[in-house]
Amino acid sequence: MLHSPSRPIGRHALQVPGPSPVPHAILQAISRPTIDHRGPEFQRLAIDALQGLKRVFSSSGPVVIYPASGTGAWEAALANTLQAGDRVLMVETGHFATLWCSLARKLGLEPEFLESDWRRGVEADRLEARLRADTAHAIKAVCVVHNETSTGCTSDVGAVRAALDAAAHPALLMVDTISSLASIAYDHDGLGVDVSIGCSQKGLMLPPGLSFNAISDKALAVSKTSGLNRSYWSWAEMLAFNADGFFPYTPSTNLLFGLVESIRMLEAEGFANVFARHARYAAATRAAVDAWGLEILCQRPEEYSPVLTAVLVPDGRDADELRRSILRTYDVSLGAGLGKLAGKVFRIGHLGEINETTCIGALAAVEMGLRINQVPSKQGGVDAAMDFLSSNPAPVSSLR
Ligand SMILES: Cc1ncc(COP(=O)(O)O)c(C=O)c1O
Repeated sequence: MLHSPSRPIGRHALQVPGPSPVPHAILQAISRPTIDHRGPEFQRLAIDALQGLKRVFSSSGPVVIYPASGTGAWEAALANTLQAGDRVLMVETGHFATLWCSLARKLGLEPEFLESDWRRGVEADRLEARLRADTAHAIKAVCVVHNETSTGCTSDVGAVRAALDAAAHPALLMVDTISSLASIAYDHDGLGVDVSIGCSQKGLMLPPGLSFNAISDKALAVSKTSGLNRSYWSWAEMLAFNADGFFPYTPSTNLLFGLVESIRMLEAEGFANVFARHARYAAATRAAVDAWGLEILCQRPEEYSPVLTAVLVPDGRDADELRRSILRTYDVSLGAGLGKLAGKVFRIGHLGEINETTCIGALAAVEMGLRINQVPSKQGGVDAAMDFLSSNPAPVSSLR
């Protein structure tokens, strides 16, 4: 980041839960000269990227890549499979589930929103009960967010799939993996998901600008006879061009260079190691929060997110003031509370290119921030995190 007299010298720490820091090797890949997107070199690049993403999603079906943020891929998933007036069952896990629901409404769908308190993941038993009650099968899709980035709660997608199966309900299952992809274990085929939605700027460690739909055979078949009016988002046009390694419009060529490098890096580390690494820094972060005596927003330990931890500030304190102070003083960006959580929580991202020192550095900035802002809390969070990390060393196989 450019240095200005008002900012501390040294490297900025981007500790928001996406965009995540972009590794040097990816920045270098992206900085290659742009090539002709209708030429043979591009064709090889596109095929590598499209094949690689299938491995990232564990999808035997196609994955399409949009030059768009995650919101675009949300819209594409719905627009390719549903008709105006279709009923869609969504679950209010937090701010992003709420935004997806309002997007569905704006597209002319009829979302039904299962209410929740933003402190837990999807309750599969409630979902199953609602699906069982829908004997006419009016609900055409069930949409859930795997990792709710606004709350730091994950949902058990396997339990969601089991709920659809137990109710013998034929609705499509769509899963937002925007902040879980390449950070939390996920298996598009194995979980029986019809459309998985992902993006570039989180676990894949790329800048914002790419988003994805992984598509099951069932969703593909539905898209051929159904769907809203669409052009830019049309799977049919995209897949026809992708078959030869091309795109129907100008792709984000340089981000694709970065994507291929990202997948190479993740596969070199091994996905199991990548997921374990995220879980380990998440546990270290929670050790710090516990020692500070602050409350983690997510109430169910089995749903704690490996990607981020949302921390409640004590009553009467403004989380945004604390975040601003930490940014100004220590040059560390933390995630803001979103929607109804504005001012109530700050979010510590521990995803992407994270290691012992970046994790501890971020926690040290939070601990100092708590101290200089006299936020009621205890000291010793950084010590607790260091204790955790040093007594639970990273497996040798995950070291580069
Ligand atoms: C879980 C989740 N879904 C959807 C979005 C929206 O993605 P974008 O901001 O890239 O459009 C985000 C953004 O952070 C997210 O975290």
